Amino acid sequence: MKTLAFDVYGTLIDTQGVLAQLEDMIGEKAESFSATWRAKQLEYSFRKGLMECYQNFELCTSQALNYSCAALQVTLTDTQKLQLLDAYKTLPTFSDVEENLRKLSSNYRLFAFSNGTYSAVDRLLVNAGIRGFFIDIISTDEIRSFKPSPKGYQHLLHTAAATASDTWLVSSNPFDVIGALNADLNSVWLNRSGKEVFDPWDIFPNATLSSLAELTE
Ligand code: 2OP
Repeated sequence: MKTLAFDVYGTLIDTQGVLAQLEDMIGEKAESFSATWRAKQLEYSFRKGLMECYQNFELCTSQALNYSCAALQVTLTDTQKLQLLDAYKTLPTFSDVEENLRKLSSNYRLFAFSNGTYSAVDRLLVNAGIRGFFIDIISTDEIRSFKPSPKGYQHLLHTAAATASDTWLVSSNPFDVIGALNADLNSVWLNRSGKEVFDPWDIFPNATLSSLAELTE
């Protein structure tokens, strides 16, 4: 049976889910704040990975929140920051997730594969009611590293007892798709809006889909 490894943040879980709360707090800056927050969170994980001074993804998220406040000249109280970080722990799924995971789980071995810690991802998936579709959660925290390090994908294969040729990463994050291909896995890029840009590195996903329904089909 083939193995499908799903990226979590941005692929199953909508990181824009904090937008409404941000709008209440900071009004029209909410959208650029949210985009800066997400971009910095990823950048911090990449940099800490390269520097080989691991700190977990949750810390990257809170440091990126502080960066975004400073960069966009937004003042948030400690309570508001805690509310946002709390909201991040219970972000919603995209609307196509539950139904398609249900269908896919009868024909494939499903794993959630994330840079987030096991406990954070477990809480997200339980809260969203989709934890039961996955055989397990595999976190790069277990090897104190981050995707797209090849070590992350090797950790996935090792933990899932899977081979690269029989394993497909499903991710909306181009960095993750390219990371998986670089480690010889197959990879599907989910471009939900159709407007995302895939990095022009002359490396191409095995397939590009606009929704999880297309994956099921
Ligand atoms: C993940 O869930 C960061 O989206 C990335 O691993």
